[in-house]
Amino acid sequence: MEVLRTDRLVLRWLDTGDAEFIHELMNDPDWLRYIGDRGIRTPEDARAYLQQGPMAMYAEHGFGLYRVELREGGTPIGICGLIKRDALEDVDIGFAFLPQFRGRGYAFEAAEGTLEFGRRTLGLSRIVAIVSPENRVSMLLLEKLGFVMERRVQLTPGASEVCLFRTASA
Ligand SMILES: CC(C)(COP(=O)(O)OP(=O)(O)OC[C@H]1O[C@@H](n2cnc3c(N)ncnc32)[C@H](O)[C@@H]1OP(=O)(O)O)[C@@H](O)C(=O)NCCC(=O)NCCS
Repeated sequence: MEVLRTDRLVLRWLDTGDAEFIHELMNDPDWLRYIGDRGIRTPEDARAYLQQGPMAMYAEHGFGLYRVELREGGTPIGICGLIKRDALEDVDIGFAFLPQFRGRGYAFEAAEGTLEFGRRTLGLSRIVAIVSPENRVSMLLLEKLGFVMERRVQLTPGASEVCLFRTASA
């Protein structure tokens, strides 16, 4: 299902047909370093992740992480979307792109569209973001999107602290 379109991108629901692409994305060194190792070793693992993660979230909340593809050609280049976690009161925005599609403003464009969708269509007044303290590139992107650092949080007992960003107006 298509969720939104920007100048260059289409965001749509992920499905099990995205298993190969998600397997590649979740084994990218920057994903492993900054987001974490989710143990996705095969496309089959990715298929199970898609069912239990994003697809389950669409069913429960009506939103989730989306596939980001190029309008021209439909190539999947990354994911971007909104996440509701048990550990956080607010909905947070998440994004990750394949290395060969970074540095071209796609992440900014997808995230900007997602924030507008979250506010206007879903009526979310406060959207946050969580990021590992070492993930400088992601923090710069969040600042460019209008986020400011609010505080450090621990999502689960014993886990490393992450930085929680909020939009300047919320
Ligand atoms: C974070 C990530 C999505 C950024 O993607 P991207 O395609 O490079 O981002 P964009 O091209 O849209 O750049 C947007 C802004 O990010 C910042 N940025 C991107 N690459 C940067 C770099 N190499 N150095 C410094 N800043 C950078 C800049 O502020 C840039 O704005 P500018 O082009 O006006 O300078 C990408 O690096 C990624 O997928 N990383 C791995 C997964 C991850 O860490 N996700 C975030 C978890 S919180």
